[in-house]
Amino acid sequence: MPDLIPVLTKDEIERKISSMARRISYDYKDREPVLVAVLKGAFVFLSDLIRQLTIPVKIDFIRACSYGSDTSSSGNIQLTKGLEIDVKDKDLLIIEDIVDTGLTLSWIFNYLQSFGPESVRVCTLLDKLERRKADIKIDYACHVVERGFLVGYGLDYAEDYRYLPEIYHLKL
Ligand code: IMP
Ligand code: MG
Repeated sequence: MPDLIPVLTKDEIERKISSMARRISYDYKDREPVLVAVLKGAFVFLSDLIRQLTIPVKIDFIRACSYGSDTSSSGNIQLTKGLEIDVKDKDLLIIEDIVDTGLTLSWIFNYLQSFGPESVRVCTLLDKLERRKADIKIDYACHVVERGFLVGYGLDYAEDYRYLPEIYHLKL
């Protein structure tokens, strides 16, 4: 059986998201950004984040795959669901669950830029540093980890563990 080692409790996640939501609400004051969440992993984070914001937002989803049931990015990104909202001249905020190599995010960043938005920024629940390959700027991160494979709170391993309310380090 794989081991689950606690990384963040429900309370810790809530506190970190509240403080991030205050920063985002302040930075986007008097604007109405489009939050572009990356399925599936980011849906739990998105739903808690938007209820802490004090600004109006619009929401869209995209789905980009590079993982099978392995634990490392192939870098070979496939878009299986694109944008539905017209984002030309809009302020976009990408909502990710975790940035690892950064290859997925940099692909998504370029994809969004192709629609002619006013701005594109990046917001992630977890920023995992050890395997970063792409040179990308992360504007908002709730929590930084050095390494490991994390699950829970939307994050999966081969579609397991997404339902857990806390975040764990999975030891296979
Ligand atoms: P990247 O392209 O290597 O940055 O990988 C990004 C995607 O891989 C994330 O959006 C996640 O869906 C998945 N991923 C990367 N690391 C983890 C992890 O530790 N746990 C769960 N999913 C992960
Ligand atoms: Mg993802």
